[in-house]
Amino acid sequence: MQKRFALFLTAALCLTVTVAFAYTEQQAKRGEKVFSLKCSACHGDNGQGGTVRRLFDGYNGMKAPPVAGPGALPNMETAENVYTFIRHHMPLQKPGSLSNRDYLDIVAFDLKANNIEKPSDKPLRVKDLPTIKIHGGP
Ligand code: HEC
Repeated sequence: MQKRFALFLTAALCLTVTVAFAYTEQQAKRGEKVFSLKCSACHGDNGQGGTVRRLFDGYNGMKAPPVAGPGALPNMETAENVYTFIRHHMPLQKPGSLSNRDYLDIVAFDLKANNIEKPSDKPLRVKDLPTIKIHGGP
């Protein structure tokens, strides 16, 4: 009986671990769309990073770090860091101008673009974000 309960606990734990980091393909797709409209002018078409162009007066010449691919999100530890940072600071010239849903969709896109987690049928939720590590490791 006790053994069976332990088995059940292990199974439940594995299940929680596997579904905890999920997002849907639709969220990532929507995030990609918002990213190309609102972010790619500075962060590059593929999120590879870049230099802010003259189009954005006052920020011209600043380095926009990569958000996808090699060296992506250099200063972010968890998905929550990304969500909070972009909600408060991005887009640079108009911080906080998107909806919370748009910001969350962008985080889903980041997870996909950086192969941090694969899409599933479970949508990404704000309360999942602190458990998602951006650069691997504990
Ligand atoms: C006008 C140019 C510009 C636009 C538009 C812009 N960014 Fe940025 N972004 C920057 C710059 C410059 C930095 C570096 C800020 C700093 O060093 O203080 C930055 C930093 C970041 C970072 C921090 C990465 C790290 O680890 O340090 C993230 C994440 C980010 N931007 C995401 C976004 C998202 C998402 C959007 C669209 C909603 C966006 N940015 C739009 C210029 C821009």
